[in-house]
Amino acid sequence: MVDAWPQHLFMVGCGNMAGQMLSRWLACGLDPASVTVLRPSGKPVAPGVEVITHFPARFPDGTALILGMKPHQFENVAAELAKVAGTPTMFISILAGTTAAQLRAALPEGANIVRVMPNTPVGVGQGVCALYTDELTELAARSAAEALMRPLGLAEWIADEAQFNLVTALSGCGPAYLFRFIDALGIAAARLGLPEDQAARLALATVRGASTLAVEAGESPGILADRVASPGGMTREGMNVLDAGESLIALLTETLRAARDRGEEMARKA
Ligand SMILES: NC(=O)c1ccc[n+]([C@@H]2O[C@H](COP(=O)([O-])OP(=O)(O)OC[C@H]3O[C@@H](n4cnc5c(N)ncnc54)[C@H](OP(=O)(O)O)[C@@H]3O)[C@@H](O)[C@H]2O)c1
Repeated sequence: MVDAWPQHLFMVGCGNMAGQMLSRWLACGLDPASVTVLRPSGKPVAPGVEVITHFPARFPDGTALILGMKPHQFENVAAELAKVAGTPTMFISILAGTTAAQLRAALPEGANIVRVMPNTPVGVGQGVCALYTDELTELAARSAAEALMRPLGLAEWIADEAQFNLVTALSGCGPAYLFRFIDALGIAAARLGLPEDQAARLALATVRGASTLAVEAGESPGILADRVASPGGMTREGMNVLDAGESLIALLTETLRAARDRGEEMARKA
């Protein structure tokens, strides 16, 4: 699925998010012997993947490095990285709220730096990866980063880094909002009388089916919604509640605004 995997992949941190990325890459044919994971716990990651607890003396040639720990750990990690011989071909950062300029200030001069904002469905190849880089990153590194993200789902470049927190609020945090929606759909049906477990099952299957249909239909979700909501029918009556005063859009605008603003606040504090 990827024409040319990095010669060597070095992952700093491999928890919930980076772990999903790695598991998809391995499923798509990445050779586990070409991967090293650094994690303080030393917990195994996947068969054949080397796990270390401290930085090595040197990076192997052709190393692509993924920063996959928490953003507040970046300063310490950068100090450790500076002691390692051999410069990675590129640094891919999934750290939320850490700007390219902040990364550049702490990483080796002239480094190729690509920010990626993935979301957890990358583990099943249906994630979203938003990418951003600055003008100092070489074209070959941009292409290599994009090629690496492609097996994870939709990979899109964001032209304006100022929008990265908004993109994070949408697609990075989005799965959690969808999980809440699925729960809420089931809870609502349970409150109206359906057995709780059955309501939860039906809600989950409905969201799965509807999102698959939305992806495959070739028409906008707005059109699909109107098509199944004939005037005077049940669906239309329910949708009138969601549409009244654009209350759903207003709620989601506030949700994304809160998440985006928190990202900006974290970046200022970093
Ligand atoms: N979760 C999401 O949905 C999501 C979405 C987009 C981006 N992100 C970004 O992904 C990054 C990781 O988030 P997460 O949710 O995956 O966190 P996590 O599950 O807590 O994973 C953090 C990883 O960092 C490792 N680590 C801890 N201290 C370290 C150190 N000093 N040096 C090197 N590695 C260290 C941990 O090691 P152990 O495994 O040994 O504990 C763990 O593997 C964050 O920067 C976040 O902004 C997350």
